[in-house]
Amino acid sequence: MPLLIAPDVRFHSSWLEGAAEFDGSRQDGAGADGWPLEELKDAHTFQRFVDALVIDALPESPRKPGLVPCTYLWMVEDGTFLGSLAIRHGLNEHLLNQGGHIGYSVRPSARRRGHASAALAAALPVARDLGISRVLITCDEDNAGSRATIERNGGVYEDTRGGKRRYWVEPA
Ligand SMILES: CC(C)(COP(=O)(O)OP(=O)(O)OC[C@H]1O[C@@H](n2cnc3c(N)ncnc32)[C@H](O)[C@@H]1OP(=O)(O)O)[C@@H](O)C(=O)NCCC(=O)NCCS
Repeated sequence: MPLLIAPDVRFHSSWLEGAAEFDGSRQDGAGADGWPLEELKDAHTFQRFVDALVIDALPESPRKPGLVPCTYLWMVEDGTFLGSLAIRHGLNEHLLNQGGHIGYSVRPSARRRGHASAALAAALPVARDLGISRVLITCDEDNAGSRATIERNGGVYEDTRGGKRRYWVEPA
């Protein structure tokens, strides 16, 4: 089963391989919006990216208006980057209705092996320790993999808003 670790430049080449597999589709929970893959091939740029992910967890870090602090974690196994997970520390209007507290993605070559389920299970105590007593997790109506991931982790369905199924989990 994968470990959840803080972003680390040691995974540079593996992260790049994993990101390339998304082939332009959204890498949920990666925090990579605005960081073109071509530019992340440069070691210094990748270091800046990793630093930006890590400091986003600090309330005092600069961020765009309305955005909340976020803890980014990577799923890794045997030195290989498998996926990303983001824990938003609070809910703004968009997150309450659509995005939820936690987002994640698994690189295409590592899917259907239980990694998302295990990563979400490992992330729930982290969320609890961040003071989130009820965790909101959402998925698109037609995202069977994410839906199963949430339901396997005890997600209690509340409703669907704008095509997003919304679930609450109370971390043990
Ligand atoms: C959704 C996603 C994270 C699932 O990752 P994963 O590591 O393959 O998931 P798991 O192996 O833990 O599978 C969890 C459950 O989903 C099921 N599942 C996974 N992918 C599925 C698919 N494409 N269709 C149907 N069921 C699927 C599995 O069978 C498993 O359920 P089960 O154990 O009851 O059989 C992955 O497909 C992904 O990264 N998708 C793109 C990004 C995304 O959609 N993120 C979620 C945003 S809300």
